[in-house]
Amino acid sequence: MKFNHRTHTCGALREENIGSHVVLNGWVNIRRDLGGVIFIDLRDRYGITQVVFEPHYNLEAHELGKKLRSEFVVSIEGNVRKRPEGTENPLLDTGNIDVMVDKLIILNHADTPPFPIEESIDVSEDTRLKYRYLDLRRPKMQRNMMLRHKLYQSTRRYFDAMDFIEIETPVLMKSTPEGARDFIVPSRMHKGKFYALPQSPQQYKQLLMVSGFDRYFQIVKCFRDEDLRADRQPEFTQIDLEMSFVDVDDVFVIMEGLMKQLFKELKGYDVDLPLPRLSYEEAMERYGSDKPDLRFGLEMVTLNDVFANAEFRVFKDALNSKGIITGLLAKGCGDYTRNQLDVLTDFAKKQGAGGLIWMRVKENDLEAPIAKFLSDDEKKGLIEKLNAEPGDLLFMLTGPKTKTLNIMGHLRLEMARRLELIKHDAKPALLWVTDFPLFEWDEETGRYYAMHHPFTAPRVEDEQYMESDPGRVYARAYDLVLDGNEIAGGSIRIHNSELQAKMFKALGISDEEAAEKFGFLMNAFKFGAPPHGGMAFGLDRLSMLFSGESSIRDVIAFPKTSSGMSLMDESPSTVDEHQLKELHIKLR
Ligand code: AMO
Repeated sequence: MKFNHRTHTCGALREENIGSHVVLNGWVNIRRDLGGVIFIDLRDRYGITQVVFEPHYNLEAHELGKKLRSEFVVSIEGNVRKRPEGTENPLLDTGNIDVMVDKLIILNHADTPPFPIEESIDVSEDTRLKYRYLDLRRPKMQRNMMLRHKLYQSTRRYFDAMDFIEIETPVLMKSTPEGARDFIVPSRMHKGKFYALPQSPQQYKQLLMVSGFDRYFQIVKCFRDEDLRADRQPEFTQIDLEMSFVDVDDVFVIMEGLMKQLFKELKGYDVDLPLPRLSYEEAMERYGSDKPDLRFGLEMVTLNDVFANAEFRVFKDALNSKGIITGLLAKGCGDYTRNQLDVLTDFAKKQGAGGLIWMRVKENDLEAPIAKFLSDDEKKGLIEKLNAEPGDLLFMLTGPKTKTLNIMGHLRLEMARRLELIKHDAKPALLWVTDFPLFEWDEETGRYYAMHHPFTAPRVEDEQYMESDPGRVYARAYDLVLDGNEIAGGSIRIHNSELQAKMFKALGISDEEAAEKFGFLMNAFKFGAPPHGGMAFGLDRLSMLFSGESSIRDVIAFPKTSSGMSLMDESPSTVDEHQLKELHIKLR
């Protein structure tokens, strides 16, 4: 089909173009037929221009214009005119002009779309995902994609300026244990053998340091077969980097510089540097989370010393078993009804708590079912420690440390939501969480896991406990947190094969298994590996937060559902018998 190339986009025309003859191409956004005159909002990615079909201006164009429907693709030619007085649209950049059409070419028809192409629509996410190519036409989604584009460009500019080299690493690699489940890919040429898709380029980037590249970065797809949530996809994108001859502070300087540039260029916001730091212990005790949301206070307080001599069984037991008693003050909530308190107790129970202790603060006293078990000194200590005043409400939880703090952390977020403590114009709360334990004990399997990954270095002073007491070893690992979301994680790495072997041993990985799975890395360390460290950003999470969305699916062009499906192309799907045969696979 013949059509003229556009002279302008649908977002370009202004008053200075009045009188010129133009060609526009785009989609019919809205059509209004006012008897004699037809108005079309013509849309492309740059904006919307109103075009007008009038019978006495051009009869032929007007006749054809009657056929137009939503989402038809058209090319129009016409003259730009000043909109008649009183019909200007201040919401559009092109709102002072319109185009009188003298030629229309219909480039393509369109079925009626399953939902209107508008900013906000009331339709299920499944329908949006099935017709994602239409969903992506919506202005909001177009903005999200453009913001993501800016994020890539700004990131590349930043790292290039800082002497980082972008290097691609393989997508087909060796399956390694630890972390999440791998997606595996059967090999046709090697019967019974499999590649894995990378959970991250972790080992490759460390090898690149051994190769002497010194500063590496990559914007890279990662794959993890794990349970999905609003902030998790099976394939997601990292901004991945690694540096040689560095310590924690050097990595922080680079990452803080990136955050400053991204916030400035994408949000026009000036981030104050250096960013605050919290140790993992502190983050857990004060906020009940390793990714604390610092947009509001509502801090938790550890009360173990207040109850050091407790008679009350629940407290005594918690203290004897090295557990914790943690408290939270809900200002002015002393008038919560029994029903409201029951709902909150249920909330805590759903998170795994045995129960929730609450107390109403009165003039010189505490009112609660358990108040009679507390001594006057304890009550006084409690009020003082939590800075409680009459009219306030106290919550307390006891039990094993990490679990109990986590539950109170969830209650803290729930109370913030109820009390509307997170203001819309709250300053972005960025911080480092540092000094993570190196290992995490798993009750179910009765073994230690690497809290970050098995290549993370222990603190030098803790190396001596790697074998005797792994639980007290801290890692040179750090996370970057934004508004209660973990947006990046990294560490200084182990760079010698003996320490790496010790690490595998502590994780219960046998010498043979380590040699088989990680032999290439351990070998590489024998050929002069520089000290190195790095980190990786979740680019999708960052885009989500910058776009003000609450799901990463809204910043990914073609995401999977929470059950890992692509509703548009219906993957995963079955494959031909003969494809399976070639891969030496038989389905049970
Ligand atoms: P980590 O596993 O912490 O570290 O991942 C880094 C960041 O990636 C994001 N992220 C995800 N985003 C979306 N969906 C997922 N399923 C998902 N999983 C992780 C998070 C996280 O902070 N190799 C190390 C980094 C390093 O040590 O340098 C790594 O992958 O925002």
